[in-house]
Amino acid sequence: MNKTESNRLQKVEESSTLAMAALAREYRSKGVDVISLSLGEPDFKTPTHICDGAKEAIDSGNYFSYPPVAGYSDLREEISRKFIEENKLKYDPSQIIVSNGVKHSITNVMFSILNKGDEVIVFSPFWVSYSAIITLAEGVPIYINTSISNDFKPSEDQLKSAITKKTKAIIFSSPCNPTGTVFSREDLNKYRDILADYPDIVIISDEIYEHINFTNEHCSFGSLDGMSDRTITMNGFSKAFAMTGWRLGYIGAPKEIAKSINKMQGQTTSANCSIAQRAGYAALRAGNECAIEMKNSYLKRRDLVFDKLNKISKLKVNLPEGAFYFFPEIDNIIGKKDKKGVEIKSSNDLAMYLLEDAKISLVPGEDFGAPNCIRLSYAASESDLIEACKRMNRSIQKLN
Ligand SMILES: Cc1ncc(COP(=O)(O)O)c(C=O)c1O
Repeated sequence: MNKTESNRLQKVEESSTLAMAALAREYRSKGVDVISLSLGEPDFKTPTHICDGAKEAIDSGNYFSYPPVAGYSDLREEISRKFIEENKLKYDPSQIIVSNGVKHSITNVMFSILNKGDEVIVFSPFWVSYSAIITLAEGVPIYINTSISNDFKPSEDQLKSAITKKTKAIIFSSPCNPTGTVFSREDLNKYRDILADYPDIVIISDEIYEHINFTNEHCSFGSLDGMSDRTITMNGFSKAFAMTGWRLGYIGAPKEIAKSINKMQGQTTSANCSIAQRAGYAALRAGNECAIEMKNSYLKRRDLVFDKLNKISKLKVNLPEGAFYFFPEIDNIIGKKDKKGVEIKSSNDLAMYLLEDAKISLVPGEDFGAPNCIRLSYAASESDLIEACKRMNRSIQKLN
């Protein structure tokens, strides 16, 4: 046990996605040919016009000082325009806060709105950091469990029964990490109708995968009837524009909440990196053409991997409609044994077995709230995906 670590931090685990990626890197550094399908990271380079925005900012010499806490005003105006034109969301630039990625945006929000013991409803499976951040902010995550059979979508009854007097907020991502589920307008309207009766509950809509959506519509929760004044919308540049390393995200929030987030950010990071903001500005000004190209490439890979995974008889797979993950159910593998007689008791055991035997790294479902699933990211080259599926199939078939 780490004696210097705070009680608060001891309540949360290290991110398993990052831990698996680190393990894969360690194997590779020892010369083992590991195919990593564990990180949720585009395998594209940041488009040139976006990098040029950053280079021009450096060369101009005008962006070396602390930026405004909430971000440069022209960038916030651009985000406000994007929200209106693409998402039918009305956030004035004063309601927008640019931050160090959506992970940081969520941290800003949770620390700004939660009191000790406040409950936050989380659609489960969920992105690993939701529960950790809620816990760090002394809130209590309340999970609504779903499964592959209902496409990982909570029913209306489940949502209703998760609400209590302590419910402060609800958080979900669409398209969803880890399931790839896209919540349609119809799905979201059903949740809206329930939440309309609870005006004090804040909705946190994580839309970071907006541009990796293979359906014909991305619906923003805040655009639904009566929801604009109580929805916090998160978005960012990491996934759509292949900018994970730039650390750039943003929040659109109701006025009072935006003020609190501003206070929080001002006292913690001051603002987001000036040069990254100029790159983000260039990205938004140029439009979504590059994001669409990348999406089309993910779609091709999704279809390729779907075909391969479907042939692995012990896996139950659904067709994800967005993001770049598969989240197959592994119930038919749990309880099986490897050659040495070692039993696969959990998703974690399966991930370790596949790393050892197939030399592929996936992320166990435990940390996403689904111990009977495993996550595979298909943001990798087609040749790696084909080889990884082949190895995975071979290793899974060996289990008895
Ligand atoms: C659902 C979801 N939200 C937020 C993030 C964090 O994104 P960012 O790089 O902007 O911090 C991720 C990253 O994997 C994610 O999957």
